[in-house]
Amino acid sequence: MTMAHTPEIEAAMEKFAAILEEQNIRIEKMKKEKDFVDYSKLDKIIIGVCGGDGIGPAITSAAQKILEFLLADEIAKGKVEFKVIDGLTIENRVAANKAIPDDVLAELKACDVILKGPTTTPRAGDPWPNIESANVAMRKELDLFANVRPVKVPDQGIDWTFYRENTEGGYAVGSKGVNVSDDLAIDFTVATSDGCERIARAAFEYARKNGKTKVTCVTKANVIKTTDGKFLKTCQEVAKDYPEIELDDWYIDIMTAKLVDPKRRTGFQVVVLPNLYGDIITDEAAEFQGGVGTAGSANIGKRYAMFEAIHGSAPRMVLEGRDKYADPCSIIRAGVMLLSHIGYQEQADKLERALDICMYEEKKLQITGRDTGCTGMEFADYIMDTIKTL
Ligand code: IPM
Ligand code: MG
Repeated sequence: MTMAHTPEIEAAMEKFAAILEEQNIRIEKMKKEKDFVDYSKLDKIIIGVCGGDGIGPAITSAAQKILEFLLADEIAKGKVEFKVIDGLTIENRVAANKAIPDDVLAELKACDVILKGPTTTPRAGDPWPNIESANVAMRKELDLFANVRPVKVPDQGIDWTFYRENTEGGYAVGSKGVNVSDDLAIDFTVATSDGCERIARAAFEYARKNGKTKVTCVTKANVIKTTDGKFLKTCQEVAKDYPEIELDDWYIDIMTAKLVDPKRRTGFQVVVLPNLYGDIITDEAAEFQGGVGTAGSANIGKRYAMFEAIHGSAPRMVLEGRDKYADPCSIIRAGVMLLSHIGYQEQADKLERALDICMYEEKKLQITGRDTGCTGMEFADYIMDTIKTL
């Protein structure tokens, strides 16, 4: 005979059961998913441009202008089409009381890839209700399981590509923790076999295609034994299919330390890790290259992919009428990843080269975030003029 639980525990167990059911459904879906889209086989690639909040629309339209310029022939042929998706704003999300309003989600799902500006995530003390982050919701809704974040500082020998798992870990049911009683709060972290395997394979495939010789798996499997243990074990299994690539295994604490060790950090190439560790360490990593504002980020799934700036929506700049002076370089970097992902590597390389010239080498125009510098659109024009010279 089992002992009766307190009503508080009974209630918590019911919530836990619902979470388990939901995760089992997700596993079933993963088991049925098809392989990655082959963009070359699509009649038309639809690129959604979703401005988001704050400075988002201003910087995103600057990036769109450049992509349209680079893809002009493809647009003329009807192979590529751009669609602007308004409405992923905090005001609309609050009105619909949803992380992503239904009509916006339907528009997103009608695209193949999405270029997304920053969206506001409400936090304690904000005037908004506590709706889920639009980012996190979009990653889940479109099953964008691989968050790919490159960081490069060539003169310091840094060339890292992070493969952050993007749909599981502490984020899977992050908004569904349980306050069991006044004294006890519990959150959940999730690892599934399919979820671990697909991110591990994505990292190894990337390594193989790009001539990398090492993949580093980062966990805290000595303490978070079950879920991180599964992640690590799965990476070790997948590694057997890639005998030419070495797998090494680090704990997140010492990995975080070694990233600031100039002698050790140049040894890392591709890093694969669970969601929360990936969130934290990619901010640290981006700092070496000039901060999160300089980094682009790709969120890749088998059917959809979304490319974004990793900085925030800077509402203060809009309040002060300075959104047109916002720096579009992070979202333009995301545009480089988008072009490469859909198969336009030549255009991606040109854009990356032009960005490096304009941002770090020639620096004919400066962005200061105010009228002492140029506007984001002027910078976009500068990049396009530079591309013409390549
Ligand atoms: C990121 C961001 C998001 C995350 C926030 C905005 C929810 O920090 O893209 O890294 O935690 O994933
Ligand atoms: Mg982050």
